[in-house]
Amino acid sequence: MEQITDKLCRYKNYNFGIGFTTADYIDSLQSFEVRDSDIFLVTYPKSGTIWTQQIIISICELGGGLNEYPNNMEQMPWLEYKEGQDYALRPSPRLFTSHLTPALMPLGLKDKKAKIIYVMRNPKDIIVSYYYFSIVCSDLETPKSFEHLYEEYLRGNVAASSWFDHIRAWHSAKDQYNILYLTYEDMILDLKTAVTKICTFLGKNLSEAAIQQVVEKSTFKNMKKDPTANYEFLPEDELKGDFMRKGNIGDWKNHLTAAQSERVDQLLEEKLGDLSLKFIWE
Ligand code: PPS
Repeated sequence: MEQITDKLCRYKNYNFGIGFTTADYIDSLQSFEVRDSDIFLVTYPKSGTIWTQQIIISICELGGGLNEYPNNMEQMPWLEYKEGQDYALRPSPRLFTSHLTPALMPLGLKDKKAKIIYVMRNPKDIIVSYYYFSIVCSDLETPKSFEHLYEEYLRGNVAASSWFDHIRAWHSAKDQYNILYLTYEDMILDLKTAVTKICTFLGKNLSEAAIQQVVEKSTFKNMKKDPTANYEFLPEDELKGDFMRKGNIGDWKNHLTAAQSERVDQLLEEKLGDLSLKFIWE
């Protein structure tokens, strides 16, 4: 892995946090043995990962049979950060989280049996969310300023590399995987419909009351109080602030100048215009 900043290293065109994984382990993921019952949540950072974790875990708990783990991070670990775990020993159904691009994911996912849920969020709100997270998370470089972070983000000099490349790669790969696409904004606007879509995709036939229970457990207000889900269990030297910050659409309007916002619009058109993606900005 090539070190590119104090906190980031690069391997196979992808930026990892230093000290979290190794090139050998990332290579080994190509032949990672995928089980048909595996569920993978894939996101670009700050797109609603821990929110969707809570939804998937709650659905699986109510839908019958999940082994207990102390918190959502252990229940649904990041595939790319192995932290001494042997995932082959985990009982089914296994739940995984990942920020990786398709090129780095297990090849066995192309059998289209295991399920992938991909959540996208509008890039302007991600910049703001990433900015505040970089301030409180010691694993990331403390931003010199919002402007500086904005430039680095557009260049892809951040964890998980370029948002534009991530979106293109996962949308271009849609025929190769068994994948459900969701957006953070749709989840905000109608959480119950999003939960129902995830249930259907996972083949979990939950009652109306159980779906409502998942929705309740996953609201911003309730999740923020839930010690298994709010990531306050992370050590203080790693996170000295809230993981769950605002949880809304459109905070970018309080941070991006008109010129910064227009530049994102232009890049969206240039880099992803052909994908006909729909964004909700407020
Ligand atoms: S990470 O570091 O990639 O795992 O972060 P991620 O979980 O993808 O993104 C964090 C943002 O998601 C918001 N969040 C929520 N929004 C609405 N409802 C719920 N329940 C919820 N849970 C987490 C969280 O507040 C971060 O967004 P911002 O805009 O910073 O508030």
